[in-house]
Amino acid sequence: MHLSRLTLSHFRNHSTVDLALTPEPTVLYGANGAGKTNILEAISFFTPGRGLRSVKLSTLTQFDQPNPWAASLTLSDDVRLVSALVDDKRLNKIQGEPVKSATAFSEWLSIHWLTPDQDRLFVDSSKVRRRFLDRMVYSYDPLHSDRLMDYETAVKERLALLYKTHDDRWLSLLEAKMAELAVAIAFARHDLLARLERSAQDLCPLFPKFKCVHLGDIEPNLTDKKAIEWEDWLQAQWRDSRGRDREAHMTHIGVHRSDFGVIHPQKGAGETCSTGEQKILLMGVVFAFLKNRLEWDDKLIVMLFDECVSHFDFHHRVVLFEQIRLLHDSKTNKGSFHALMTGTDKELFSPLDGHASFFHVAPSFIQKG
Ligand SMILES: Nc1ncnc2c1ncn2[C@@H]1O[C@H](COP(=O)(O)OP(=O)(O)O)[C@@H](O)[C@H]1O
Ligand SMILES: [Mg+2]
Repeated sequence: MHLSRLTLSHFRNHSTVDLALTPEPTVLYGANGAGKTNILEAISFFTPGRGLRSVKLSTLTQFDQPNPWAASLTLSDDVRLVSALVDDKRLNKIQGEPVKSATAFSEWLSIHWLTPDQDRLFVDSSKVRRRFLDRMVYSYDPLHSDRLMDYETAVKERLALLYKTHDDRWLSLLEAKMAELAVAIAFARHDLLARLERSAQDLCPLFPKFKCVHLGDIEPNLTDKKAIEWEDWLQAQWRDSRGRDREAHMTHIGVHRSDFGVIHPQKGAGETCSTGEQKILLMGVVFAFLKNRLEWDDKLIVMLFDECVSHFDFHHRVVLFEQIRLLHDSKTNKGSFHALMTGTDKELFSPLDGHASFFHVAPSFIQKG
């Protein structure tokens, strides 16, 4: 399975786009502002959420254009997915049939991205890191996002209830629900970090064989207790902290405050590494994820690398492309892989000559070659 065609209409600066893609990696090159990231952004709408720029759907329609945006992706010339704005709402279709939500696309493919904004992930807020981690977990277990939403709703409900009632029974019921969800979320995140560490061992030597650390109320010692024991423990903590939470108007304990760190084997904690070292470490985390994910099931994994070669010298670029080609071609993969990369100049991608599909993106045209 691979991406065989991408069409867009009235998506940001692109009036119409119709790209025939091959199973090889795809390179989109062109001047600043040509609309390269916009193309990756369109693909990021074939997964739940608000895309790689996290924006309101209406802002995606081309300026001064009465017709709203639409995008389609065809997989292996066979399966056609559509994502579009209709009557100010997102409409998703598979093979011409509307589906309930973009979650339905996850039956076919799993889409991930790395953008220049994420270069400083290790020094960013814990919220940004949690989102990064949860997107990876979600790729293995689509129910993870429902659990997260249900957990966050329950946390809010409990906080509101703390002001309205002293009815212990209601609060205990909510806390029991929170505990069940929190423990499932923590174990799923724990499992993901273990997978990343394992797969880091098998990457090209340039990428560090990093270790992960869990931060949070239960994650660092998660394997010491059974899930049911952690649920009891969390319920007891929440019961005892009702007064404190009410006073501070916040929930002090829980997986909404968890975090993770990545340790470079020679340089130590990710956040203390130089900018370049952080970028390689981050790429290592992403490749470890992709490698593990491709061995997991037979889905198509799409990776959007926006400006992936900025700050990389020639040697690093060679290794980066080598790793991408290995993922495209590996015989141990169950799933298939499609990488799309952007950059300003074609020469930056010269090690991929003959091994990738190149497209020159300009504001008014997109040309193969
Ligand atoms: N809704 C829109 N309609 C038309 N053009 C848009 C819209 N949103 C953004 N743009 C234009 O898209 C261009 C940026 O495209 P982008 O994909 O970020 O470029 P790059 O090739 O540098 O990645 C800008 O010129 C911006 O004005
Ligand atoms: Mg860009």
